[in-house]
Amino acid sequence: MPPPSTPAPTRRRCLQLAAGGLVPLAARTWGAPSTTVRLSHVVARDTPKGMALERFRTLTEERSQGRIRVQVYPQGQLYGDHDEMQALQLGAVDMVAPSLSKFGPIGFPEFELFDLPFLFDSLEAVRRLTRGRVGQTLLQSLQRQRLTGLGFFDNGFKHMSANRPLLEPRDFVGLRIRVQASRVIAQQMRAWGAWPVTLPFSETRRALERGVVDGTENPVSNFWTQGMQAVQSDLSLTAHGYLGYAVVTHQRFWESLPAADRRLLQGALEDALVFGNEIADAQNDKALAALHLTGAAHLNSPTAAQTRLLKNAALPVHGELAARIGHDWLRTVHNALQKTS
Ligand code: SIN
Repeated sequence: MPPPSTPAPTRRRCLQLAAGGLVPLAARTWGAPSTTVRLSHVVARDTPKGMALERFRTLTEERSQGRIRVQVYPQGQLYGDHDEMQALQLGAVDMVAPSLSKFGPIGFPEFELFDLPFLFDSLEAVRRLTRGRVGQTLLQSLQRQRLTGLGFFDNGFKHMSANRPLLEPRDFVGLRIRVQASRVIAQQMRAWGAWPVTLPFSETRRALERGVVDGTENPVSNFWTQGMQAVQSDLSLTAHGYLGYAVVTHQRFWESLPAADRRLLQGALEDALVFGNEIADAQNDKALAALHLTGAAHLNSPTAAQTRLLKNAALPVHGELAARIGHDWLRTVHNALQKTS
C-alpha cells in the first residue's frame, strides 16, 4: 500500500510508471543499498553504450527495490582506456564495458576479429557471431584472467574523419590517424597509407584539436557526442569496420554475490543490452541527422569503386590476423557468418 498521504492520482501515476520501468527518483522509498556495483566507461551518457548502461542501472535498482545500487561513471571520469581493466583486476571498479578492440592488448587477441575491415555487412551478421559459439568461446576465454564476460552489445559501424575527405587509400597517405590499441586497426591504417597513433578515447578530441593527430575513426554517435565536428571538417561515411562492446566483471566480485543477485544482475543486463542494441542505430542516425542539420562537418560518401579500393587494400590485414590467432579460428568465424546468411 502506498502511504496514505500520497494523493490517489499520484499513486496511480507511480504505479503506471513502475509498470513501464520509469519510476521517478522522488517516488522511490528504498532504503540504503546493501550492494553497490561500480561501473566505469569512457563515452558520453547519450551514446548507445551510455544509454544501455543507464538502463542496466535503472532495471537493477527497480528489480532489487534499491537493494542493489549501480553507480555508473561515464566519460572516463574514473578510468580511461588504459587503466580501466587494471582497475577491474584490482577491485577498484566492479564492471567495465570496453570496446572489443581493447581486449587484444591485454592478452585476448582473438577479440580482434571484430576489428577486421569489412568483415560484417550488417549488425545482424555481428550478432550471428556474438550469439553463437564464437561469442560464447570469447566470453569464456576471459576466465584466463579471472574475468567473467557477461554479454556483448553494439555501437555500430565506424567512419573516417579528418580535415579532408577520406574515401580511398590515396586520401590517407601521410596522415596520422588516432586508433584504439588494436593491432588489426593499426595494420588497416598502414594498409591505407596512414600512420596509426594509439591514443585513449578520452584524449582523442584534444589530440585532434592540437594537431597531434590528423584524423580518427568512430561511429557517428561517438564523433558527435565528443564534439569532434568542431575540430574535424569532414566525416567520410566509409562504414569500414564495427565497434561493439563486452561487459566484464571480475570473478572475485561476481562470486562474492549471492546466486539470486547474480541472476538479477544478469537478467537486468540482458534486457539492457537488448535495449542498447535496439537504440544503437537510432542514436547513430540521430547524430548523423544533427550533423546534417547543423552543417558542422562535411559528410562524404564513397562510391562503390572507392569502397572496393579500401576493401582490397585492407585484405592482407585478414591474413595477418589469421597468422597471429590461427587460421582455424578465423575459418570458424567465416563459417559462422555464412551458415545463417
Ligand atoms: C568506446 O566507444 O568505448 C570508445 C571507442 C574508441 O576508443 O574509439
